[in-house]
Amino acid sequence: MNENEIQFTELLEKAKEASKTSYSPYSKFAVGAACLFESGKIYLGSNIENVSYGIGLCAERNALSTALAAGEKSQLTTIAVYSPNQKHCLPCGACLQWLSEFSTMCGNNYDITVILEGDNTDYTAYKLSELLPYGFKFQ
Ligand code: THU
Repeated sequence: MNENEIQFTELLEKAKEASKTSYSPYSKFAVGAACLFESGKIYLGSNIENVSYGIGLCAERNALSTALAAGEKSQLTTIAVYSPNQKHCLPCGACLQWLSEFSTMCGNNYDITVILEGDNTDYTAYKLSELLPYGFKFQ
């Protein structure tokens, strides 16, 4: 395993761990996310649902909020997402837009890496620019 792969494996383990804090009584789909910043710090999040289904929060946005609320100021480099199905699950459009806020699309200098893993599968790594080539930004 090279350095990247070791880092990806560690982040995915943390994302899986984070999924244990999911509050998902409606979908029963417990997702976990782990965000790595240039500072070396990792922040976790899981999906939090609500009886008013549409206002539930995804794991990815929860992890990002946790980081920013903790005062993290360095560049986001990588987010790992674990979902409990056979194949990995791709972040929803709202989460991609949130992630774009911290990547090249919104003037930062780093195209963040998004790594995804389900159960019993290998992970897949994408660049955010592949998943959201044309998100919203001010011109
Ligand atoms: N969900 C996430 O937390 N992240 C994703 O990337 C996709 C979906 C959550 C939202 C909802 O609580 C549950 O998974 C089912 O859609």
